[in-house]
Amino acid sequence: PRIVILISGTGSNMVAIAEAVKAEEIDAEIVGVISNRPTAEGLEKAQAMDLHTDLIDHTLYASREEFDHSLIRMIEDLKPDVVVLAGFMRILTADFTRYYEGRLLNIHPSLLPKYQGLNTHQRALDAGDDIHGVTVHFVTEELDGGPNAIQAIVPILDIDNAQQLQQRVHEQEHIIYPIAVKWFCEGRLTMKGNEALLDNKVL
Ligand code: GRF
Repeated sequence: PRIVILISGTGSNMVAIAEAVKAEEIDAEIVGVISNRPTAEGLEKAQAMDLHTDLIDHTLYASREEFDHSLIRMIEDLKPDVVVLAGFMRILTADFTRYYEGRLLNIHPSLLPKYQGLNTHQRALDAGDDIHGVTVHFVTEELDGGPNAIQAIVPILDIDNAQQLQQRVHEQEHIIYPIAVKWFCEGRLTMKGNEALLDNKVL
């Protein structure tokens, strides 16, 4: 399978997936890494791993729709089987999410459906939760709302601040995202209706 990864920043999840491909843990090819930010650190990391990179600067587009249509064209040139959002910090239009429905994955730093949106670590702390975590899910029109594929739970310690918590969540991200991508590439992880299935069993 052909993987396209979309990033906006550090790209550590992209690197984790690329390393799993390189180590042949995932039988796939990363055919492109696309950033919407020229300054994304992940672009250099991708280039250092000899991956093809593209830049599509959202500030040059008048509307979300125009940006998303150009983004689709850029992605389609790479003929992907799966599109992986790895810290891609743009809200996608329904045109985009419908186009890639069932082959579009995202990682979100909370135990979805809890804490959709931003500042998830601080919100979990403020709520006095005992546990926090991270979710890989299929992307649908609803922001952070598609069916879950895999989650990792991270205990919240009394002494935690948001930064420490975020760091431990990040470590788990690098473990579960390659697993989800591997399952998808093996044809084991699929989406049917509004459900994610692993080996044809509802997750
Ligand atoms: C991660 O926290 C991820 O959960 C969120 O964006 C961040 C991306 O980190 N969606 P990185 O760019 O992969 O290091």
